[in-house]
Amino acid sequence: MRIQLLFLLLILVICAYTYDPVKVNYKEKGLANKDKPLKVVLTKDEEDDEDVPTVNIRDLEKKVKKSKKVVEEDEEEEEDEEEEEEEPAPKKKLPRRKSKRVNPKKEAQKKKKITKEVQEEEDEEEEEEENRTLEACNFETSGDNELCHCDMEEMNCNSIIMANDNPHLDTANLLIMKKDFEPHLANFSENAITRLQNKKVLPGFEKHVQRFDLSFNQIRYMDSDVFKPFTNLSNLDLSHNNLQSIKKAVFDNIKTTLHRLDIGYNRIKSLPDGVFEGLANLTTLFLDGNPIKEWKKEMFKGLDNLEKLSMDNCKLENLPADLFEYLPKLNTLSLRGNPFDEIPSAVANKKSLKNVDMSATNLTEIRDHAFAGDSDLEEINLEQMPYLSAVRDCGFCGLPKLKFLMLNDNQKLIELHPNAFGFIKSDPGHKAAALTTLYLDNSNLNFISEHMIDYDKLQSFKIGNNPWKCDCDTQFLLEEKFSFKQDSVAPKCATPAALQDKFLATVRASDACDRARFLGRSGRSVLGLALLAGFLAIGGYYMVSSGKLEKLVRRVRKEPEVTYTNLQNGGEDIGLETDFQPRPAEV
Ligand SMILES: *[C@@H]1O[C@H](CO)[C@@H](O)[C@H](O)[C@H]1NC(C)=O
Ligand SMILES: *[C@@H]1O[C@H](CO)[C@@H](O)[C@H](O)[C@H]1NC(C)=O
Ligand SMILES: *[C@@H]1O[C@H](CO)[C@@H](O)[C@H](O)[C@H]1NC(C)=O
Ligand SMILES: *[C@@H]1O[C@H](CO)[C@@H](O)[C@H](O)[C@H]1NC(C)=O
Ligand SMILES: *[C@@H]1O[C@H](CO)[C@@H](O)[C@H](O)[C@H]1NC(C)=O
Repeated sequence: MRIQLLFLLLILVICAYTYDPVKVNYKEKGLANKDKPLKVVLTKDEEDDEDVPTVNIRDLEKKVKKSKKVVEEDEEEEEDEEEEEEEPAPKKKLPRRKSKRVNPKKEAQKKKKITKEVQEEEDEEEEEEENRTLEACNFETSGDNELCHCDMEEMNCNSIIMANDNPHLDTANLLIMKKDFEPHLANFSENAITRLQNKKVLPGFEKHVQRFDLSFNQIRYMDSDVFKPFTNLSNLDLSHNNLQSIKKAVFDNIKTTLHRLDIGYNRIKSLPDGVFEGLANLTTLFLDGNPIKEWKKEMFKGLDNLEKLSMDNCKLENLPADLFEYLPKLNTLSLRGNPFDEIPSAVANKKSLKNVDMSATNLTEIRDHAFAGDSDLEEINLEQMPYLSAVRDCGFCGLPKLKFLMLNDNQKLIELHPNAFGFIKSDPGHKAAALTTLYLDNSNLNFISEHMIDYDKLQSFKIGNNPWKCDCDTQFLLEEKFSFKQDSVAPKCATPAALQDKFLATVRASDACDRARFLGRSGRSVLGLALLAGFLAIGGYYMVSSGKLEKLVRRVRKEPEVTYTNLQNGGEDIGLETDFQPRPAEV
């Protein structure tokens, strides 16, 4: 019986001893710690869910007002500028589109004045140019001195330096000398062409041209009908020129054939409503680097098949929420290098979007549910953000199709919330569970949670050049499966001091984490103890609940009587024995 009691005590001691390790074993410190803050944050989210949108809209409205003021101020400055810059259209056929500016009267007056002044000069220039044609594709007659190399349906006229006083080619009015040549690609990039005139762009060969590259010239004027004979033109590049406005009529003649149009990096300040109307086959449009002041949904009217739109470096601080309303098929949007500091709602709520690039913008954090629920986004690019410091709880929730996420080169990024992707707690289907590519390299992270995403699903994972803290929480990154073969920069530990500058791939888990050492050596015996304790606890519970313990206790209580009688008996026996023993001596 006393042995039973001792055994019970032993069980209790073991239970007390093993209880703690069991907890640590199963939950891991990372998660155990996270439990508390998570609850707090999640309840906060529920409040936020209602509040955020209204706050957003208010913020936006404020900003719209602010930027309007700024725009009006700018307008006056720019008008002064225009006085110097503006020249009249080269031909009377081409009445200048009335620009939608604040002060149309003032504008008109100015224009008249300038027109008078410059008209004479203009006319002279024009006549001179009219008859100047150059022979091109003339290898047979000129050999190495040929103008433009023409071969395999490609006409290569880029960056031509002329021998005479015209340093750069300044006209597209070329006479193609090669027989039976069909220029499907005409490349006039990097020249000094200033205007595109009616019937003076590759005369006679227009219908063959499918791809026309006029980028990096100084084109300022285009006749309305200049592209009329280009009945096969599908790809037109007018980027990096001096265009200040775009007339709808210019594209009217090529509206069914045009697939790709680049008018980026010109000096376009406004686009009239419906300027692209009828370009029903246009799938790709670049408007990058233009100082367009007012963005309205009407400017995109008629682009029913547009899939890709690029508006990089347009100084956008915010966008009208309905800007993309007329773009039902828009799936790829680039907004790089714009100074907005909130994800525009026009982007967050655009259902058809699959790929968005908001790199090099002034975003400071990715907030809870930054993208609208049930988004179809597959790729988000957020690199080189000068101010991005945190991805908050559920920042990338509601993106079940997200495959590629680039968060690299963000020098201020210090926090990636353990629940950023909704893996720890979010509504069903809100997890970003399709992620295959995650770039976090060249940022300022020292910790990411082991439970943040399903790392086994990643095909590409870059974490190099971050100040990783190598301890129990990041120990999982040391595992073999994260050998970071694809990282250009192998990740290193920054802290603790003992592991500083050691490559993650070479640090042993037991050096980074004491607990790992303990588990490593005696993990099995701890597990065994835990199991034993579990059994004993169950046994104990059974004994208590079935009343056997009570019986045992009662039996234990009775024992002193038994012992007493035993002792008495024993005493008697001993007495008897002692009584008896001396006798033989006597005998
Ligand atoms: C240009 O050529 C046309 C004939 O093609 C001629 O009538 C006209 O006078 C020429 N203009 C100049 C300025 O040489
Ligand atoms: C035209 O030539 C330039 C310079 O070689 C090149 O960068 C560009 O890609 C060419 N354009 C096309 C459409 O091939
Ligand atoms: C127009 O382009 C198509 C291919 O897009 C080509 O098959 C056809 O021959 C071209 N037409 C001319 C006149 O070059
Ligand atoms: C362009 O669009 C028209 C309808 O507007 C369509 O009939 C035609 O097939 C399209 N062409 C191409 C090359 O996609
Ligand atoms: C955006 O960031 C740039 C520097 O990266 C700064 O010059 C600019 O003032 C910022 N713009 C806004 C609107 O915050």
